[in-house]
Formats: sequence, structure tokens, C-alpha cells
Amino acid sequence: MSQASQPIGLFDSGIGGLSVAYAILRQLPSESILYFGDTARIPYGAKPADTIRQYSEDITRFLLAGGSKLIVVACNTASAAALNHLRHLWPDVPIVGMEPAVKPGALATRTGKVGVLATAGTFKSQRYASLMHRFAKDVELLENPCIGLVELIEAGKLNEPETEQLLRQAIGPMQSAGADTFVLGCTHYPFVQGLIEKIAGPGAAIINPAPAVARQVERLLRERGLLNEGTQPRHRFCISGKDEGGHFRKVAAALLGFEPELEENVLA
Ligand code: DGL
Repeated sequence: MSQASQPIGLFDSGIGGLSVAYAILRQLPSESILYFGDTARIPYGAKPADTIRQYSEDITRFLLAGGSKLIVVACNTASAAALNHLRHLWPDVPIVGMEPAVKPGALATRTGKVGVLATAGTFKSQRYASLMHRFAKDVELLENPCIGLVELIEAGKLNEPETEQLLRQAIGPMQSAGADTFVLGCTHYPFVQGLIEKIAGPGAAIINPAPAVARQVERLLRERGLLNEGTQPRHRFCISGKDEGGHFRKVAAALLGFEPELEENVLA
């Protein structure tokens, strides 16, 4: 198999990174995906950074053993905790990370107030502090860790009253404080973007960084001569837990437009 026809490896704590896989497949429909969702150990958001670093290292090893030509850390929390570490361990592998879109948020706001929805782990990180320092000097960031939202999304509750209530509690105070722009700083949150749009109202800007990450993946693959041309794509989806209730399959199929074959209890 030529290196170009090998998959793009992505990982997240669970289903969230599929929002990034979706953007990549839209941008690069000929590419194959090797996806790993660490559903046995989700959520990552409240765990110590060194624990997440170790998980990320083990998962990256797995993705590379599966032939990945490029790694996407499709999780803001894991990127904040482990991106530098992974790049240090594998200096020759292109590794793309996620970060809350603070810069685009600061450029988009007209009120000077940007709501950031991300996990506690992301907010506590050095990476986030550096984003604030570099791009948010002239705007106010209003933060909310949306505790419990990741679990609701994993349970397939994308449009339930309890999900809407949690989001209203997070977004309402930001709106009252004048926020007109909302940054989706966790890869799970695009799954409830419809609800967020409904709550935030038609004048608000909602920023999902996944399409920009997909363009970055394309740039890197092109630069290194690794874009797949011709070979039929073959995807693999793995999770470390069991797909209780079939939510992973259901949500993935609705998003991707095909029923993924799922390998369960991987790396468990
Ligand atoms: N999807 C992840 C992120 O982007 C984290 C979710 C979790 O807490 O596990 O931050």
C-alpha cells in the first residue's frame, strides 16, 4: 500500500471527533479514516492533564500501528494536554490539533464579547491561556464548561429538553452579558449546534473550527505528497467501550450518511 492511500488517524474521548471526521471527509472525500473514540474512559474534560497525555500517547501509537499517515487530535481537551508531547515523540509525523477558535471569535464579535463553550480541562490549560493572551486582549471571553453536556451527547440526547435546558443555562448569562459570538471549543458541541443556534438567535455567530482543521489537513497532505488519489477509501471506526444502546452507530450514521462498521472494546 502506498503511503498516500493510508488512512488519516483521528481520536477523541468519544463521538465528538466525528464532527471533525465529517469535515475532513467533506473536504477530502477520497481519504480513508481510522477513527478511535475512547468511550471507555470518557469524559476527558475533568481528568488531570498527565492522565490525558498518557491516553493520547497510547491511542496515537495504536493509530500509527494501523498505518495512519497523519494524526488529528480531534479533541480540544487532548490537544491542550498532549499535542506538544505527541509532536515531541513523533517529530516526523504530521499531527494536527484542535483549539477553541478564540481568534476567529475575536474577529467576528461586534459587541466585544465572545462566549466560549469548552471543557474544564481546556479552560485550565496553558494552551488556552496563550490563546487568550495572543488574541483576546481587546475582547471579553465569557466561559462555560457545560458540565454534563458531553455525557448527554454520548447518550444520543441531541435534541432533548434536558440538553436544551443545560445549554440555556450556559448561553443565557453570556447573552445577558452581551455576547453575540459563540465558539464551540469542544468537538462534541457541533452535534448540538442546531440547539445552540436556536438559543443564541439569528443574529449570533457560532464558530465550529472543524472545517478550518480539515483545510489544514489538506494543506499538510498536499505539501508532503500524501493526498490519496485513485484508491477507494476504506474507513475503520473503533471505540474502547461497548456501544451500549447503539448510540455511537446511530449518531455516526446520521452524521456521516453511512452506517459505520464499528470495532468495540479496542485497546480496552
Ligand atoms: N470532545 C472533547 C473536546 O473536544 C472532550 C470531551 C470530554 O470531556 O471527554 O474537548
